[in-house]
Amino acid sequence: MSHVQILDVEKSFQGRQVLKRINLQVEKGEFVTLLGPSGCGKTTLLRIIAGLERSDGGKVFVGGKEIIEGLKKKAQNIGMVFQSYALFPNLTAYENIAFGLKINKISPPQIRQQVEEIMAILSIAGKEKNYPHQMSGGQQQRVALARALVTKPDLLLLDEPLSAVDAKVRESARSLIRDIQQKMGITTIFVTHDQLEALVMSDRIVILDSGEIMQQGKPEEIYNKPANRFVANFIGSYNFLPGSLLGLPNKNVEVCIRPEHIKLVKLDSLAQEEDASAHQLQGTLTNLYILGNTIRAEVSVQGKTLLVDRLNGFQASNFVLQEEVRLLLKKDALNTLGITS
Ligand SMILES: Nc1ncnc2c1ncn2[C@@H]1O[C@H](COP(=O)(O)OP(=O)(O)OP(=O)(O)O)[C@@H](O)[C@H]1O
Ligand SMILES: [Mg+2]
Repeated sequence: MSHVQILDVEKSFQGRQVLKRINLQVEKGEFVTLLGPSGCGKTTLLRIIAGLERSDGGKVFVGGKEIIEGLKKKAQNIGMVFQSYALFPNLTAYENIAFGLKINKISPPQIRQQVEEIMAILSIAGKEKNYPHQMSGGQQQRVALARALVTKPDLLLLDEPLSAVDAKVRESARSLIRDIQQKMGITTIFVTHDQLEALVMSDRIVILDSGEIMQQGKPEEIYNKPANRFVANFIGSYNFLPGSLLGLPNKNVEVCIRPEHIKLVKLDSLAQEEDASAHQLQGTLTNLYILGNTIRAEVSVQGKTLLVDRLNGFQASNFVLQEEVRLLLKKDALNTLGITS
């Protein structure tokens, strides 16, 4: 049986449905990310799983036991890091982290050892005596994470635990969380609206929109085979084009292709012309700019702008703006999204 089972869970606030029949299973030791735009219901779902919010319909089971709102979290051994960290303002970092262990009546020397260990792992050793207001947002988030991890929970619920840390620290914190999660084998449900974070950390990603699951799958499935326009739009960049533009047999179909699957070549480049694995289009180069490790070109094809990404190092200087160019769209990278009316 799955470690977490969410069956037909529904929730409304003031007559507005924010979760619509959510069904989701999470396996023991799995790292599942809930990804979706602000207001799509991520925190609400997490709070229902933790037993902090009552659902209007459906059931949640953790370790085979039904979660009912108000049930003591301790009984279920669930660790949660809230979006707002929710540290006790009148307790020091040390006391915040030790709180759950004290409640569990662990002996003081053991508490000291476990708190010091987790503080060292999370690089907040030295902050023991600091109160929350004496720490940066990122440090407070790590204290909140330490507080959740120190009790060695079976299930870890993380609600945007990295939102307050800068890009560099965020990167190392991601691998730290993933590392600890793997080492301790903790089933984890992680919430973010950062697509990159979801892609690099998760065993499985669940995409939510307006309280509904749009798609779930491994990161590469979500990235390479989006089930619909919402998912395609939400993760990375995509070019959407009518099938008619490519001369497809079914002209009413809409297709999409990622910018990195389009090649930009000179109009007179003969070598590419016989390439049967790609659709060819002619267009006008309207823009070229650096995105970091890639160079992005914008090419206007019959009034539609297509984005093309090439790795930095590509001979951008061979091209001039307003030049007529040829685009090669890898056939096997085309996704068909559905019939347009
Ligand atoms: N206690 C509440 N009372 C009324 N409405 C609520 C309550 N909690 C959440 N909502 C509404 O439910 C919807 C989902 O909220 P939720 O906090 O789950 O979104 P979220 O996906 O976590 O968003 P974010 O990424 O901004 O944190 C929102 O429209 C929110 O305004
Ligand atoms: Mg939220």
